[in-house]
Parts: sequence; structure tokens; C-alpha cells
Amino acid sequence: MKKYLVIGNPIKHSLSPKLHNYWFKKNKIDAIYEKKEVNEIDLKNIILDIKNEKINGINITKPFKNSVISFLDELSSEAKETQSVNTIYKEKNKVLGHNTDASGFELAIRKTNYEIKEKKIFILGAGGVVPSIIFALRKMGAAKIVLSNRTKEKAEKIKKNFSNIEIIDWGNIPDFNMIINATSIGLNNSDEINLNFNEIGKNKFFYDVIYNPTQTKFLSTAKKLGNKIENGKMMFIYQAHQAFTLWHKIMPKIDEETIKLIEHD
Ligand code: ATR
Repeated sequence: MKKYLVIGNPIKHSLSPKLHNYWFKKNKIDAIYEKKEVNEIDLKNIILDIKNEKINGINITKPFKNSVISFLDELSSEAKETQSVNTIYKEKNKVLGHNTDASGFELAIRKTNYEIKEKKIFILGAGGVVPSIIFALRKMGAAKIVLSNRTKEKAEKIKKNFSNIEIIDWGNIPDFNMIINATSIGLNNSDEINLNFNEIGKNKFFYDVIYNPTQTKFLSTAKKLGNKIENGKMMFIYQAHQAFTLWHKIMPKIDEETIKLIEHD
């Protein structure tokens, strides 16, 4: 039986096992997918398990998407450009690191029919998923990307890889067409983002990487004021879908049942 893992810290809320195990069953694949909480010090041995084929594939979540890179033999171009890996496997005796968050985000945006080309995008946050979002936005032709994070140094660090983004102080709001919440504010109904919605107006696109709850305050307020909204549910499903396809060379179906698996409320 093949074995797959998602590793991170904390990991107990990860829904990846639910999704992958569901697709194993649907596609009659003899495999198991589990979650494991690890520390930085464990990364080396876990990657060795891929080399020794004790584990067939690993998804990486926060905070290891960058730090795992030093243990890998090769990176895909997406992983290299974002310096962020979320999918690992062995091919031709090499341990490969790939990034499916970027294409997951791209597919999710395409599904909404929102045209990114020539748009001004404002991103809140500088966590693990932000380089992937920037990569995808640039690929889709965004005109301008402005980034703001409470801890400015983390935003500045991202700018080292993506020189043509603009960094502004936390609390400031630039002119934008689309705003992305990539912070953890609003996750599990914790806290809410302090935005001056009167200043922002309507007819913008509000995107939240969070999908639990289905609508954060950020999204529900934006909707009330006449903006287009979308949560991170499809991004999550598509990144898993892409990892599954890489590992098993099978494209699983994303049907209503799949989507229901990760809906909380
Ligand atoms: P990681 O940084 O480990 O990748 P993450 O959940 O992807 O974790 O990122 C959390 C993001 O939410 C960060 O951008 C964080 O800002 P800091 O870098 O300043 O910590 C942001 N965040 C979380 N709580 C916040 C809060 N109360 N106010 C502002 N930003 C917050």
C-alpha cells in the first residue's frame, strides 16, 4: 500500500487527508494519506523516507514550505520562482519539490471568470502562500501588485523574489480592483480585518484565502456593499487535485461530493 502525508505545524485542522483518501476510494487506488505534525528538525529524515520509498508523496504546509527546500534534489520552475514547495515525490531517483498552490490559485480565479489582466491587486499578509499568489497573478497579467503586512520585514523579504511589487505600511489602502486576504485574520471566526469600507466603495473583487468560515467578515461586509467575493475553497481543492494528478497520473473528479467534504458550515 502506498503512503502519503501532509506535514506541518500545527496540522490537526488539515483537510488534505479527507480529500486525498476520498479520491483514493473513488479511483480504487490502494493507498493511505495521513497528517503528521513535525518540527524543523524532522524534515531531513522525512525527506529521506521519500528517497527510501517508505513514503510515496508529501504535501507541505506551513511553516515548512520554504525550509524544506534545502533537503530536495530538484525544484520545478514554480517552486524555484516562489521558493515555496507544497508537493514532494521521487522521480528517476531524485526527490522533487513542486508548487501546486500557484496553479491552484490560478485555476480558482479562472473558475470565477474574473479577468486579472491589467488589474491592480492589493494583497494583505505575507505568509507562506503569498509568493504562490503573486506568481500566479503575474502569470495572469496583473498590472500592479501591492503588498501590505503587519510585520513589514516579511513583505520586504517577499519583494526580494518579486522585485516589481510595491510594499505599503499596514493600515494603508491603495487604489485597487481586487483585494486578497492572505492573512489568518478571520480564520475560525477569530478577529476581523479593520478596513475602511466606505473608502473602498463597491464593484471590486474581494478574495479570501480562508474557507472556514465560508464567509469571513471581510467577505460578508464586502458583499453587502456590492462587491464580488470568493473564498479559498476552490484554491485548496485545486492544489490538492494537482498534487494528486502528479502523484497518481490520474485526474480525480471534482464533484459536489468533493466540495462538500471541505465545507464546514
Ligand atoms: P506563516 O507566516 O507561518 O506562513 P500564515 O498563517 O500563512 O503563517 O501567515 C499569517 C499571516 O497573517 C501573516 O501575514 C501575519 O502577519 P505577521 O507576519 O505580521 O505575523 C498575518 N496575521 C495574523 N494575525 C494577524 C493580526 N492580528 N493582524 C495582522 N496580521 C495578522
